[in-house]
Amino acid sequence: MDNNMVKNFQDVQHFGEFGGVNPSISDSSTYTFLNAKTMYDTFEGNTEGCYLYSRHSSPSNLHLAEALATLEGTENANVYASGMGAISSVILQLCDAGDHIVSSRTIYGGTYALMKNFLKKFNINTSFVDTTCIDMVENEITTKTKMIYCEAVSNPLLEVSDIKALAQLAKKYNIPLVVDNTFSPLSISPAKLGAFAVIHSLTKFINGTSDCVAGVVCGTTDFCASLKDVNSGAGMLLGSTLDSLRASSILKNMRTLPIRIKKHSENALYIAQKLEADGIKVSYPGLKSHSGFNTYSKQMNSNYGYGGLITVNVETLENANNLMELMQAKKIGYLAVSLGFYKTLFSAPGTSTSSEIPVEEQITMGLSEGLIRISIGLDENIKKTYDLINTCMRELKLLTQKTVMV
Ligand SMILES: Cc1ncc(COP(=O)(O)O)c(C=O)c1O
Repeated sequence: MDNNMVKNFQDVQHFGEFGGVNPSISDSSTYTFLNAKTMYDTFEGNTEGCYLYSRHSSPSNLHLAEALATLEGTENANVYASGMGAISSVILQLCDAGDHIVSSRTIYGGTYALMKNFLKKFNINTSFVDTTCIDMVENEITTKTKMIYCEAVSNPLLEVSDIKALAQLAKKYNIPLVVDNTFSPLSISPAKLGAFAVIHSLTKFINGTSDCVAGVVCGTTDFCASLKDVNSGAGMLLGSTLDSLRASSILKNMRTLPIRIKKHSENALYIAQKLEADGIKVSYPGLKSHSGFNTYSKQMNSNYGYGGLITVNVETLENANNLMELMQAKKIGYLAVSLGFYKTLFSAPGTSTSSEIPVEEQITMGLSEGLIRISIGLDENIKKTYDLINTCMRELKLLTQKTVMV
């Protein structure tokens, strides 16, 4: 399955206007028509190959969308100006006022805040549960439930949802399963496991250069068309449109995704294994000690490993802050939110990307204030990186005498 998938996605071919190896960038917000009837038909969505206005679609956005649909094995895809633009469009397309969502309790803080705080305005309520437990998800489903939502690998706790089991449950109740696959592109293919729609924050691994914000929804042609509908499409009407210039640069970066994901995974596994051997509390789905190891292993595309993210728990916020500052000073990486960059990035989610989640709920879900999320970079010499991390930990006395001797 993997090789085929990579071949397809890297083989998506669009020549530039002058035969260039990259498609030409569509540098227009609006498009001309030779006759008025074609314009009307295009408005109605009936003319293949015609463009109307770039908030609806543009050649560059469609090129990127096609590559992303191929990546996820879906019929179609729509790109957005951010991951949150994609998430909010999907939710508002699938849910009406008074509807209900069952969501994983460990999700990106922005998505959590959207569901918990913002959607209240529309009386859309969310039950947050541990989606690794199928019974808990089923218990929350009511006649008003219009969506089951999870992250394939959750932010920041790296919990792994069993997509196939969730998809079967969703099917039983005729509810769409929407999966945010931002943490595990290529490594997990949610649509192939039965998800109705797959979302990515392209800002992360897929673009890979931390120079832009973008998102995508991959799904059926009907669903993607509904999001773009000029009368009722949340994507079209909320206006979170990706700029063509940026779509073009993301497409170019995406060409190297397979090789990057393999390296991120290889490096993350190395660091996780070393830290675990040192007696550090480390969480990585590729470690046998991780609660999601079996689930990840059975649903992964094995060529790509277990992803580039690990978490380390150093107990207190003070320890976490000291360690991150020292790691930055020693050029291991940057004290910054986000992930999927060539350089290692680290942050303490409790006070940053998950700070939208109230402290008592963070405690319930196991998000300790001393937790550091680390997006491992593409370091050529990962042993050297580990040695530097080890030096930082010794300097801060985070390795006990016992662990040092081991
Ligand atoms: C898992 C996940 N989904 C969605 C988002 C939101 O994406 P964006 O920042 O591109 O809007 C993030 C951002 O950190 C994320 O980590």
